[in-house]
Amino acid sequence: MSERPSFYVTTPIYYVNDVPHIGHAYTTLACDVLARFKRLDGYNVMFLTGTDEHGQKVEKSAEAAGVDPQAFCDKVSARFNDLAQAMNFSNDQFIRTTEPRHKLAVQHLWRVLEEKGYIYADNYAGWYSVRDEAFYAESELMEGEGGAKLAPTGAAVEWVEEPSYFFKLSAFEDRLLELYDSQTDFVMPKSRLNEVRSFVAGGLQDLSISRTTFNWGVPVPDADGHIMYVWIDALTNYLTAIGYPDEAGQAYKDFWPADVHMVGKDILRFHAVYWPAFLMAAELPLPKRVFAHGWWTNEGQKISKSLGNVIDPFELIESYGLDAVRFFMLREVPFGNDGDFSRSAFIARCNADLANGMGNLSQRTLAMIFKNCDGSIPHPGILSNEDSELLNNIDSLLDEVRKHIDMQAFNRAFDAIWKQSAAADTYISSQEPWKLKKTDPDRMYTVLYVLAEVIRQLAILMQPIMPESACKVLDQLKIEDRAFTALGATGRLASGTVIDKPVGVFPRLELDAEESA
Ligand code: MSP
Repeated sequence: MSERPSFYVTTPIYYVNDVPHIGHAYTTLACDVLARFKRLDGYNVMFLTGTDEHGQKVEKSAEAAGVDPQAFCDKVSARFNDLAQAMNFSNDQFIRTTEPRHKLAVQHLWRVLEEKGYIYADNYAGWYSVRDEAFYAESELMEGEGGAKLAPTGAAVEWVEEPSYFFKLSAFEDRLLELYDSQTDFVMPKSRLNEVRSFVAGGLQDLSISRTTFNWGVPVPDADGHIMYVWIDALTNYLTAIGYPDEAGQAYKDFWPADVHMVGKDILRFHAVYWPAFLMAAELPLPKRVFAHGWWTNEGQKISKSLGNVIDPFELIESYGLDAVRFFMLREVPFGNDGDFSRSAFIARCNADLANGMGNLSQRTLAMIFKNCDGSIPHPGILSNEDSELLNNIDSLLDEVRKHIDMQAFNRAFDAIWKQSAAADTYISSQEPWKLKKTDPDRMYTVLYVLAEVIRQLAILMQPIMPESACKVLDQLKIEDRAFTALGATGRLASGTVIDKPVGVFPRLELDAEESA
């Protein structure tokens, strides 16, 4: 039994009908930052991502590509795995719904739901959108060009009539409402909770959970020709990864219920209505939170393959460097809101906060230490009020950052960190250490020591969002203990430590001539 507290965070599993783009990278990045933060803060973490490989959409994409579905899944899934490597994601597992362990888990859950009386056979007649892999009521549809019926998401719908098994979703209306009312942070942000609540309060229909018109999926146990609805299959991945149905197993005991299911706003209904209802029916504990983030647009336009404006994360990393990409995505937009991606905003933000902000602060300080203190961390003298104020603020920064991270308010957490970086800039300007060399070298040593200590703590706190760059700064300072227990006064920098000649960590970014034209 692990003595550390545990933390389980999941991304949605990505459909393999598409190549990964910035929207996919965004969801996983948010989880990566949470996972890294919690590990540094002493938690035993399980961070799960993976691919959603069944269903009609994937079957059709494989058909269109003229390959067998499994071969198709293998190829596209590998691309998502490549993205995880390229983005330096620290996921503990990469699950694929075509794995045998997953089939076992979903079929087990199905049997439990059946035994408890929540599944019945009937016929489905209604609208289905293959793109959304979702059923829609007539009243939800919109009218498209030429009177075509469209899903509320704009996706095409088709009329489906087939024998189907149903899940008694309608039986969970009251319990779901009770859940939203008693656990008000079950869905975040709050505006999304209200959305989900009013959807459920409007009345729930039973949910069709098997299809008979395609083959690519998990077969319903003992029901020839029935393939499970891809969402019951997909959602169960969160249990598969921690060993379900082995509820006595260590992974299940350590990590269920999940702490955060991170999702995009488009798939909130599945996670905040269907998933808790399945779990209630199976008498399993519910996840603690579902956080729905916003969507990225590209220079104001919806990102889509057909518009040809998909932002390729691999290309962005190549052009601007990984940590700049990671930083921008979570720093720019309050998490939960929609955001617009533009190269000029990207460059402006990275230059202001990285090259001119933290980069300049650490480069200037370390260069002064290297040149004026025999290349080693100086001994501080008696601290002035300004020194103590700066150090006190940095010593208490973790508490503030933790509070924001626990609410998934990434931009607030980074605001707090960068506010201290700006405070250190103001301190340099007011203390003018470069002038002290001749007039008061002891005071110069103290000022440079205080600055180096501030940089140490800032770099430790920046590790979750910019692991490589923070690591380079800490390497330059020869800091070995990088966990959050090293933050604050107890972990102070050791005077006398010899440092390397500093090299800039955050380059200034420029718009390509072609892009700025
Ligand atoms: N397979 C389902 C999830 C099953 S989870 C049990 C799915 N896959 S998806 O590949 O279509 O989308 C996965 C995630 O990517 C969603 O959370 C979605 O919001 C996110 N994004 C896709 N495009 C996006 C943007 N343009 N911006 C931000 N995130 C978006 O849904």
